[in-house]
Amino acid sequence: MAPTLQSVATVLGLLLPYWTVHALPTSRANSACCDAFRNQFQAVQLDLVTPGAYFSAQESDLSPSCRVNPTTAEEVSQILSTTTQLGCKFAVRSGGHMPWGGSANIDEPGVTIDLGFLNTTTLSEDKQVAHVGPGSRWGPVYDTLSPDGLVVVGGRSEHVGVGGYLLGGGISFFSPRFGFASDNVAGYQIALANGTIVEANSQENPDLFWAMRLGSTNFGIVTRYDLKTTAATKMWGGIRSYNRSHALDAAQALLDFDKKSGELGLDSAGLDIGSSDEFFMNFDRVEPNINDTDVYDSLLSIPFTSDTTRSDVTLKNILQEIDALFPIGLHASFRTLAFTSDAQFMIDWWQEGLKIFAPYEGNSDLSWTFAFTPVPASLLQAAEQANDPQGVSANNGSVMLTNLNAFWQDNLDEDDIQSKLAELIGWGQTEAQQRGLLNKWVYLNYASPDQKPYESIPEANLQRLRDVRQNVDPDSVLQNLWPGGFKI
Ligand SMILES: Cc1cc2nc3c(=O)[nH]c(=O)nc-3n(C[C@H](O)[C@H](O)[C@H](O)COP(=O)(O)OP(=O)(O)OC[C@H]3O[C@@H](n4cnc5c(N)ncnc54)[C@H](O)[C@@H]3O)c2cc1C
Ligand SMILES: *[C@@H]1O[C@H](CO)[C@@H](O)[C@H](O)[C@H]1NC(C)=O
Ligand SMILES: *[C@@H]1O[C@H](CO)[C@@H](O)[C@H](O)[C@H]1NC(C)=O
Ligand SMILES: *[C@@H]1O[C@H](CO)[C@@H](O)[C@H](O)[C@H]1NC(C)=O
Ligand SMILES: *[C@@H]1O[C@H](CO)[C@@H](O)[C@H](O)[C@H]1NC(C)=O
Ligand SMILES: *[C@@H]1O[C@H](CO)[C@@H](O)[C@H](O)[C@H]1NC(C)=O
Repeated sequence: MAPTLQSVATVLGLLLPYWTVHALPTSRANSACCDAFRNQFQAVQLDLVTPGAYFSAQESDLSPSCRVNPTTAEEVSQILSTTTQLGCKFAVRSGGHMPWGGSANIDEPGVTIDLGFLNTTTLSEDKQVAHVGPGSRWGPVYDTLSPDGLVVVGGRSEHVGVGGYLLGGGISFFSPRFGFASDNVAGYQIALANGTIVEANSQENPDLFWAMRLGSTNFGIVTRYDLKTTAATKMWGGIRSYNRSHALDAAQALLDFDKKSGELGLDSAGLDIGSSDEFFMNFDRVEPNINDTDVYDSLLSIPFTSDTTRSDVTLKNILQEIDALFPIGLHASFRTLAFTSDAQFMIDWWQEGLKIFAPYEGNSDLSWTFAFTPVPASLLQAAEQANDPQGVSANNGSVMLTNLNAFWQDNLDEDDIQSKLAELIGWGQTEAQQRGLLNKWVYLNYASPDQKPYESIPEANLQRLRDVRQNVDPDSVLQNLWPGGFKI
């Protein structure tokens, strides 16, 4: 993910409060589940909305019959048993950053299971593994590990949640070297549909262990992640902004970067271009400086209008810079498309966006952006070696991943914006196909609810995921009662 909201912050000319509190309505439909929770639990808190619980307005606008905040795996298991026995629809929230309405929240009579208090990080005795609660955000996870000089393959934002991120892949600054974040999970503790708590790792329940890497909301509620640790290093990086007149040069330079960035897997860069007068590039090297590499040369030669790149920074410095560009509480949408890198296609697609969104030109209440991230062959190879269920392949070299994102204010027409975004993705898909560039990978963490990440994976993997689901949830309870997330 890369910055897009410098535009909103400056163009909108408004300062949004970082945390947005959403009061619960006073009267709500009766819910047998909420009554049961009240009778069942002493410790579990009900109806507590953590400020800033959700990234998008579409999520925070929903209002469940109650929210329940378990603090242990056993409580999650009891809640899940109650919910399935009484047949209540439910949602599960960890970091609340999946933007679409209903992904991690639900309207009454549904109930929301909020894992925000399951947010501890502890190291194993040999420090090889971090035990991380699903309700943790990546910032506190990194902060906890950093005194030991350690890090895990995790989010490029301090605020994104561990829980959802790891169930859809997870692209990290460490991914070019180690693969998706999910490929670096050593084990899971999971509450299954019937309330049973199981461990899934290479020894216990190995099929479920494999499946969880693309688990979304299909197999159970994860109550603990065991993440492999690796040595932390200082970084080089930052963000530059550019005059639009250099867009084609930048897209071409990104291809050059992609060709040069090698097997060491230290380098990440991204191009953000859309409705803003300017476009942006982010540079993120997992080494303290760039003295020994030429991979960034072409990118750095493009004339810029502002620049924060610097040596010897911490991961935290980099993340805080990115997060400052993503205010919480706006209407938000993510969509995705993958293709074989091609500078002219990127520029043509952007131009098509300017055409489709012409009715909003100059409207400071909306910003939309293509965040283009090269996914290097080294990342795809690492995922392939780990037999990642996404089934991505390094056979054809690197892939350009698109996150088409948009942010807008309450007063604008949700349906109109969503349909324009869908039209823009549709144009890209058709055009990429015609130019022989389309890659059918639909990255789950960036997908919108009308996209189908599971249909994009190899059939054999899909069948194996279905078999695992049949084993852990033979009665399709989660399919029926848990509408959020992506279903196989
Ligand atoms: C500002 C921003 C930056 C981002 N940066 C990146 C990035 O760098 N790389 C990347 O790959 N993605 C990134 N994403 C996408 C992000 O990975 C997904 O939105 C992810 O789902 C967020 O996880 P969460 O726990 O915060 O979300 P939530 O909204 O809480 O959960 C997402 C989904 O997972 C389900 N879920 C959550 N926890 C559990 C659990 N314990 N057990 C079972 N199901 C669960 C929820 O029910 C929901 O359907 C970013 C998103 C935003 C908004
Ligand atoms: C866990 O969440 C609680 C409640 O939001 C918060 O007070 C606490 O600081 C969090 N702990 C960590 C390690 O983030
Ligand atoms: C961008 O570059 C063009 C062409 O050089 C120039 O006309 C324009 O004023 C520049 N825009 C900004 C915002 O600097
Ligand atoms: C590498 O770059 C850093 C930061 O620019 C600089 O301080 C350092 O002297 C350089 N080292 C070498 C060996 O050139
Ligand atoms: C590689 O490219 C060829 C030709 O475009 C295509 O037929 C094939 O499916 C691609 N393979 C993978 C693994 O993406
Ligand atoms: C719960 O489901 C799992 C997976 O299907 C099964 O192995 C276990 O026996 C079930 N437990 C109970 C108590 O039914």
